[in-house]
Amino acid sequence: MTDQLTQLREMRERALLAGGRKRVEEQHARGKLTARERLALLLDPDSFQELGALSTHRNTDFGMDAKRYPGDGVVTGFGKINGRRVAVYAQDFTVLGGSFSEVQAIKICRIQDLALESGIPILGLFDSGGARIQEGVRSLAGYGEMFTRNVLSSGVIPQLSVMMGPCAGGSVYAPALTDFVIMTQGSSFMFLTGPEVVRTVTGEEVDTEALGGALVHNIHSGVAHFMADSENQALELVKVLLSYLPQNNTEDPPQVTPYDDPDRMAEALNHIVPAHEDEPYDMIEVIRAVVDRESFLEVHSQYARNAITGFARLDGFAVGVIANQPAHLAGVLDIDSSDKIARFIRICDAFNLPLITFVDTPGFLPGVNQEHYGVIRHGAKVIYAYCEATVPKISIVLRKAMGGAYIAMSSKQMRSDLAYAWPTAQIAVMGAEGAVRILYRKELEDAPDKEARAQEFIDLYRQKFFNPYVAADMGQIDEVIEPRETRPRLIRALQVLRTKVQQNPPKKHGLMPV
Ligand code: HXC
Repeated sequence: MTDQLTQLREMRERALLAGGRKRVEEQHARGKLTARERLALLLDPDSFQELGALSTHRNTDFGMDAKRYPGDGVVTGFGKINGRRVAVYAQDFTVLGGSFSEVQAIKICRIQDLALESGIPILGLFDSGGARIQEGVRSLAGYGEMFTRNVLSSGVIPQLSVMMGPCAGGSVYAPALTDFVIMTQGSSFMFLTGPEVVRTVTGEEVDTEALGGALVHNIHSGVAHFMADSENQALELVKVLLSYLPQNNTEDPPQVTPYDDPDRMAEALNHIVPAHEDEPYDMIEVIRAVVDRESFLEVHSQYARNAITGFARLDGFAVGVIANQPAHLAGVLDIDSSDKIARFIRICDAFNLPLITFVDTPGFLPGVNQEHYGVIRHGAKVIYAYCEATVPKISIVLRKAMGGAYIAMSSKQMRSDLAYAWPTAQIAVMGAEGAVRILYRKELEDAPDKEARAQEFIDLYRQKFFNPYVAADMGQIDEVIEPRETRPRLIRALQVLRTKVQQNPPKKHGLMPV
């Protein structure tokens, strides 16, 4: 027995060395941690239980017999974060560049299966040169197995990806299939084909950072939801994000002990909407004033900034917040903001988070470019996602709610449970100038004092429609409230809606206009 124990201990020691001291030093020199060091930061102390630490690759071609490393470039297992169970896999760049082998696939898929069956979140830490070139199609097949599990787990357990190094080729699709992607700035990148291939195919000169760095995917592509300055910050973000999510889709999100007065009036909100209707204000300030202190976690904060999505708490209960941002492109709905909103609605609906929607939008963005790239199809996703969602849904119209966007942004006709409006709300088919130009075109052509006459019509239109009272009169708005009472109103409404039960017709799946 002593010999066997010694052998086991030696093998384990060897596994801990990953790709060897030199490789570990190189990893540190790049400002990166090893897979095990990352897991030590992420998981509660002594909670990690590793699986598959002794597996090695099966390939013997290309001199691979001489390059055998226990664990084969990925550390997999279970642990706890703030006392809650999670499954993890962390690629280890010090072993053959973290490249994805047949055995790596088997280990990750095993953890994915166990996470799904146990109903616990799964976290992937990515740092890999992609498919292990020496293994050819065996590696590619492994990706297929992994993608399948990503998709089967989708909407059942939370799946989070932290990009902490390269992620190239088709392997970007594994994180892209998960719910949230966090990228470390300066050390992670994601692209299908690298700068060399881009240069050959399109003639474009670009480096890895400009092609697929954290800024690119947070600001432009929307592939990433969060950006972190350091690995430590990225791992802390995982912990915060998980605190808003349930372990799986059958559970309610975790509740924290309330620490903010549920009846707190936010006096500043009574003065936040500017007197002039085109003047911007910062919707983030509204959200922060309404939700529990310091509880707002913005998701996709850099992408499509004309819309806001994020998690927050109201009286200790987690909610999803969606809003237009008048301070950016006047809060207009366009292709990217529609995608951002629709995706976030579905995540909240899947994981049982009520949806609170703050509305101030002049409508969908007009323009040839938007029409040609499919603002109809993308905008339809917002409508689809809101209609389909069965979680409690509450909307508040703060100012503009024009045309299709009024209906699309969580209107009562689209199964919203409650709709509030501030007295500053303007609920109309379109803006005053545009409406008058269409309605009174002939009359204005003939009028000697065109401008004065147009202004008269504009004033009349505003008087009639630029208020919440027509909609309130018709019951489309349940109550017009003082802005400062928004928080207590929402908290009380959620107390009622907490036990809401609503189901969609049975079907294999809907056909969202993706
Ligand atoms: C095998 C790999 C590897 C890979 C890196 N290595 N990538 N081994 N397969 N894919 C090995 C290197 O040979 C090297 O080993 C060690 O890892 C470290 O790599 P370096 O190149 O020295 O590191 P660095 O300079 O930091 O560059 C990292 C890198 C680069 C940018 C990731 O290695 C790279 O471009 N790798 C190939 C990326 C790629 O094209 N992958 C295939 C994508 S296709 P030694 O022992 O020499 O030090 C794909 C298809 C998936 O993934 C399809 C799914 C549907």
